[in-house]
Amino acid sequence: MCGIVGYIGNRKATPILINGLLKLEYRGYDSAGIATLEDEDITIIRNKGRVKELKKSKDLDKAQGTIGIAHTRWATHGKPSVVNAHPHIDCHKNFAVVHNGIIENHIELKKFLTDAGYTFVSETDTEVIPNLIDYYYSKEEESNDRLLKAVYRATQDLKGSYALAIISKIEKDTMIIARKDSPLVVGDGEGEKFVASDIPAILEYTNKIFILNDGDLVKITRDNITFFDEDFEKVQRKAEIIEWSSKSTDKGEYESYMLKEIYEQPNAIRETIGTRIVQNDKCDFSDINITKEFLESVSHIYIVACGTAMHAGVAVKPIIERLTNISVEVDIASEFRYRKPIVGDDTLIICISQSGETADTIAALKYAKKKGAKSIAITNVMGSSITREADFTLYTHAGPEVAVASTKAYTSQITLLTLLAIHFAEVLENEDKEIIDNLKNELTEIPSKVSIVLENSEKIKEFAKRVYKEKDLFFIGRGIDYAAAMEASLKLKEISYIHSEAYQSGELKHGPIALIEDDVTVVGIITDRRLVNKSISNLQEVATRGAKILIVTDQGIDEKIFENIVKIPKIHPFLSPILSIIPLQLLAYYISKEKGLDADKPRNLAKSVTVE
Ligand code: F6R
Repeated sequence: MCGIVGYIGNRKATPILINGLLKLEYRGYDSAGIATLEDEDITIIRNKGRVKELKKSKDLDKAQGTIGIAHTRWATHGKPSVVNAHPHIDCHKNFAVVHNGIIENHIELKKFLTDAGYTFVSETDTEVIPNLIDYYYSKEEESNDRLLKAVYRATQDLKGSYALAIISKIEKDTMIIARKDSPLVVGDGEGEKFVASDIPAILEYTNKIFILNDGDLVKITRDNITFFDEDFEKVQRKAEIIEWSSKSTDKGEYESYMLKEIYEQPNAIRETIGTRIVQNDKCDFSDINITKEFLESVSHIYIVACGTAMHAGVAVKPIIERLTNISVEVDIASEFRYRKPIVGDDTLIICISQSGETADTIAALKYAKKKGAKSIAITNVMGSSITREADFTLYTHAGPEVAVASTKAYTSQITLLTLLAIHFAEVLENEDKEIIDNLKNELTEIPSKVSIVLENSEKIKEFAKRVYKEKDLFFIGRGIDYAAAMEASLKLKEISYIHSEAYQSGELKHGPIALIEDDVTVVGIITDRRLVNKSISNLQEVATRGAKILIVTDQGIDEKIFENIVKIPKIHPFLSPILSIIPLQLLAYYISKEKGLDADKPRNLAKSVTVE
């Protein structure tokens, strides 16, 4: 959702801002704009639609300044339009602001400012911010930090969440940024500084990055970055040196980010395993301190997440239960705190979030912490908000995931959570050495098995051509195959806009089979050896009612009975979703492609859902 970029230096800001916005496109947006500081005034150029259209705008010639801010907007308050697009400027045209988040008390603030003589042109919550800054600026004494102080006073009035970048035509060599519950980073270059919602937007210019803490207010000049904490005390923050190359955020030879990320899965899994599996020894989780005493005291584990990350939780629940003997419940983050779950100091909450910024997941984590739970965050983004809330953080090392539809993060999350389950078992001195050793061996083999599946995509491409015009698809599976079916169904919906449902195969007869008629497509996932015959019977029941069937399996299923079978390498049943999802990610992708859609940027979706 909304992306922010900022630049202050000696180069022309516009190309850097536009380039940064293009790198943030994955977050999802419906309008875009930039503001640069010229000799006398602030130039603002905005449009509805894509950044590439903004890039073509002739008006950009007017934006020559070396200081600027830019934004991609995902509409919340007010429809997507030029007037609602950011940057916004106060009615005296002094301060331009870009904002990510929601100002919950904007109606009261607007009333206050209107009474004070301020006027508004947009329907946004954001427009109160530059006006509030102008109001406080007029109340501040002349000083070197007058703008900084005005922004601080304005942020004290804001309720809700924000990442802000502000430039002013009065203090020409300064940019102020601030964050509360929305991500923001500053990149440190020689005589120039970069601001962004996310590291990939500025990585090509610098890898020395400061990740803002919640409540931080930062004064940026060409040569200095000065941090103030939530109490407006000057503080030191430590820069991270980011090791991703800026190439990892390019499409490279691939036609889309999503395809690239699907094909990156062997490496993402390998990197996530890293050095955790130690030959003839316990897994290395020295980065977290989970003791035997603590695990013995845990009566309940909650896995809480949204969307694909939640599906990764569903996939690992059986492994964790089997290896720890502790019951695991998987919850949708947006529901968790409202259902008032039983949480206490005997609870462990594991929150999974690729971005580490998902508002609902963070809110669930805060709720559980308040009730005394211990927490582990699983995320792919270094320093993301969730890492600041959780007691312990574990990183998937999938590399930047740019496509909106999550692929490599999902398989990396299952990998990491399986390793964590093994770690728990080892801490608990679980006697079941055979299964632990088996899982470790299988995990090390998984990257090459994923590569095998990826090399055999022809059947999937063919099948996509046959079914892309359909209106409904069903994905069915039993046990852990149902977990993969849920994720396959989500992938298809997101990028092909085809309605689909996931069902436990055995549940069909209890209602959904009424929907099966000639030519409806049913995709069956069969990897659980114990349930092969039952799953086949379920598929035969739908086949006799006219359904077209595709089966993804590692089992020996008779090709005379079912014509479309995609074979995947044999795999430990606990790990099967890592393999069975791959052809189905590709199916969703190729269906979307056949339909001529942009799989990287599905309509209405944002990569990072920072509002509830
Ligand atoms: C699906 C997808 C979403 C995310 C969900 C959670 O492809 O990407 O369902 O999985 O929005 O996002 P994170 O993992 O960033 O918390």
